[in-house]
Amino acid sequence: MAGTVDIKLDPKSLTAADKARRRVSFPRLDVNSHMHFAEGVKMWATRRMAGAQPSSPICETEALTIEQAWAATMRDPAHAAQTRLNWSIHDFMWDRVCRAFGRDADHFLAAMEATDNDGPGSLELNPALAIPDYARHEIHRQPGGYVGDPFGGWVYHYALTLAHYQGRTPHGELQMELANAVPKPADGAVNRILDIGCASGVLTNAMKERFPKAETWGVDVSGPCVRYAHHRAAKLGLDIHFAQRLAEDTKFPNGHFDIVTDYLLFHEVSAEAARKIVAEMARIIRPGGVWCHNDAQTTGWPSEIHRPDTSIQGKAMAWNLYRHNYEPWYEAYKALDFPALLRDAGFDVDMSGPPIFRGRPSVNAVKR
Ligand SMILES: C[S@@+](CC[C@H](N)C(=O)[O-])C[C@H]1O[C@@H](n2cnc3c(N)ncnc32)[C@H](O)[C@@H]1O
Repeated sequence: MAGTVDIKLDPKSLTAADKARRRVSFPRLDVNSHMHFAEGVKMWATRRMAGAQPSSPICETEALTIEQAWAATMRDPAHAAQTRLNWSIHDFMWDRVCRAFGRDADHFLAAMEATDNDGPGSLELNPALAIPDYARHEIHRQPGGYVGDPFGGWVYHYALTLAHYQGRTPHGELQMELANAVPKPADGAVNRILDIGCASGVLTNAMKERFPKAETWGVDVSGPCVRYAHHRAAKLGLDIHFAQRLAEDTKFPNGHFDIVTDYLLFHEVSAEAARKIVAEMARIIRPGGVWCHNDAQTTGWPSEIHRPDTSIQGKAMAWNLYRHNYEPWYEAYKALDFPALLRDAGFDVDMSGPPIFRGRPSVNAVKR
């Protein structure tokens, strides 16, 4: 369609200045240095120790529940020690990141206050929003979680770059690849975009960079997340609207969006909420509009992509995430037949796109 500007993003060509603008930094040299140390320890632990597996006799144990598999693997003392050390380092990371923001709280609060009512873009906070119980916990062991710390969005973004992606995509490179892989509607019209569960807005920003003329929204239940997301986008010169709202009740009119994205939202909400969010997306995406979903594989994925964790290590890891990374909805999400949910809600579903993260493609759903 005339007017739809579509720019291919190139995560490999970011200049040093681009990278500096996209990274989180701290106002004091000693804090920056200490955070580099914390980052290095976390990266070392994640890269060197994640592959540590229990010894083979234990691995040959028969089919077990994920909790039993975890208990069996933890009978290997070396594996158990490594696993516990990994969590200690994870908590060390959160502790140091939270302290770094708390130590210069006035600086970080003033920075967000300076952009709250300033553009480009806009910020909508809804302090009266009833936060669902499922969102009120310390996901990933983050102190205060997304909603309980005024720096929750900033802390999440900073720690995410060093923990979740193990420092491999610290400037939003992964989300640029995700944005590049989003298919356009068949008629080519991309006038309005929404990113749900936007957190610090890294994917929202990439979508705006790819489609600079489109009205772009990021929605998240967390006030601290959208506040930081707006601050960061404004600093990057991106005209994006961030709003603290529920993905299951977005308040947008029917058929409003040409493209909706979500990245790693669904495994963090209850199965009941997931169903409501799917219904809400079916309401606000126009016929022919595209919903690009990316999260862990669920029941109903094609067998060549969906490889359920049937090994004892896979099961033990599932329990480890569920129980020790405070991801209580992960297993319920994986048990949902997500592609069937989308089809039943009125979407045609395609999973033949390129693998992007951990070998999985996005689920591209076109509204019938
Ligand atoms: C893993 S983070 C998303 C990461 C983000 N998409 C990115 O690209 O970095 C999950 C986000 O979903 C948000 N969330 C959870 N439940 C929600 C809901 N019902 N409505 C909107 N956002 C929700 C959380 O506050 C959190 O910011």
